Amino acid sequence: MKGNIAIDGPAGAGKSTVARLLAARLGYLYIDTGAMYRALTWKALRQGISPDDSRRLVELAQETTIRLEDRGARDVAVYCDGEEVTTAIRQADISRQVSLVASVPGVRQRLVEFQREMAASNRVVMDGRDIGTWVLPRAPYKFFLTASLEERARRRHRELLAAGQSVELETIKEEIRQRDALDSGREVAPLKPAPDAIIIDTGQMTVEDVVARLLALIVANQ
Ligand code: CDP
Repeated sequence: MKGNIAIDGPAGAGKSTVARLLAARLGYLYIDTGAMYRALTWKALRQGISPDDSRRLVELAQETTIRLEDRGARDVAVYCDGEEVTTAIRQADISRQVSLVASVPGVRQRLVEFQREMAASNRVVMDGRDIGTWVLPRAPYKFFLTASLEERARRRHRELLAAGQSVELETIKEEIRQRDALDSGREVAPLKPAPDAIIIDTGQMTVEDVVARLLALIVANQ
């Protein structure tokens, strides 16, 4: 089989776990584009830059080097200017601010450049919000994963508890609801399925079910 694989969808739909496993299974490089927006948000907060200050954020995007190191089925290490931020970028304050940072057109332009460069020189499974619609519109395989807000909040809650962060389910639900609204409503590259994406509701499926379904669809469409 050949060609890049684009996976989009709202927060907590299971994209990153599925994309990571699928990439490991196929021997592709996994690119977590959300981690790049999170890393930039982490740096902005650390420097005291307001997520409303578009001008500074664009400058910041231009002077920042973000590197993803695919560690196979295990995880992806994220580096911001050489400093490892893999765990730091999953903190609640980053989750609350990232959609504002990601709505700035100049920030997106810079990160999308990186993303396209990586996809040009590797076979990739790339996940995000705008991969099928904007970053890799010619990818031969496009999937859009969704699930109800309730289910997505429950999953994210379990993940955070497992990572030792104690947060209320209701708080997570509210954060995801707000982030989805910002991501779907923004002017540049909003969250939405590409016209040729296959939409999969993962609500009743395990991670393994979803990976198996995607593999079957990829094989069937070779
Ligand atoms: O993993 P989770 O679903 O929480 O989100 P993520 O993939 O880490 O993405 C975090 C945020 O980055 C999203 O809510 C979007 O605001 C932004 N993002 C984006 O705008 N475009 C992408 N291609 C990926 C993420």
